[in-house]
Amino acid sequence: MTTNNKGKKEQVRTMFNDIAPKYDLLNHVLSMGIDIQWRKKVRRLLATIEPKRILDIATGTGDLAIELAKLNPQEIIGADIAVDMLKIGEEKVKAKKLDNIIKMEPGDSENLRFDNNYFDAVTVAFGVRNYENLLKGLKEMNRVMRPGGLVAILEFSKPHGFPFRNIYNFYFKNILPGVGRMVSKNEEAYTYLPNSVQKFPENKDFIEIMAQAGYQDIKQQRLTFGIATLYSATK
Ligand SMILES: C[S@@+](CC[C@H](N)C(=O)[O-])C[C@H]1O[C@@H](n2cnc3c(N)ncnc32)[C@H](O)[C@@H]1O
Repeated sequence: MTTNNKGKKEQVRTMFNDIAPKYDLLNHVLSMGIDIQWRKKVRRLLATIEPKRILDIATGTGDLAIELAKLNPQEIIGADIAVDMLKIGEEKVKAKKLDNIIKMEPGDSENLRFDNNYFDAVTVAFGVRNYENLLKGLKEMNRVMRPGGLVAILEFSKPHGFPFRNIYNFYFKNILPGVGRMVSKNEEAYTYLPNSVQKFPENKDFIEIMAQAGYQDIKQQRLTFGIATLYSATK
């Protein structure tokens, strides 16, 4: 992300509002559809506690919220700071006739409007990396989750091991930004993506931050050679 007078939150909001119309297409093409499998994993993990109230924060265009509706909860709130992402999500939710379960609304993970202990489960897919204040965002998610609830955090990580790591790095740093720029017409979003993944804490570093935020029984599962990691924890 370029440095200018705006803080990270404003830059992230502007960037996602800008790429919103092309976000889903680029997501599925650039990940070659693997992201769909990762969201299913989150759904299977949550199925173990049969959640009735779910918060999907940084929901974007709502793909995870829509996947989680298969768990038959009473209520899913999909919240995000970028309203143009939410608008596209809302259309998808309506088209799938899920608007009686999923409510899309503006919301900031660092300052949530919900009471303590309200949700059975809180999820976030590819969102925490974009938080301006990671610890604050994780603490707020913990505050609104009930004791015994489950948090699931899906985030990109850096694959290890030759030759996959090398092939992936070449793709992620050289091919993905160009395709992203061409399709989205946004100069920086798909350069920001590999750069932000490079800088973001993973494995025990991220687990340590989750512990600081008050989570317990923290586990991680590296997915697809470590391109992504699914962290889960209770309260
Ligand atoms: C890469 S998108 C992920 C969207 C969706 N979860 C998915 O899996 O496709 C990241 C989203 O995080 C949102 N975001 C960033 N910081 C946020 C915050 N503090 N609170 C809520 N949403 C935030 C952005 O607006 C953006 O829509």
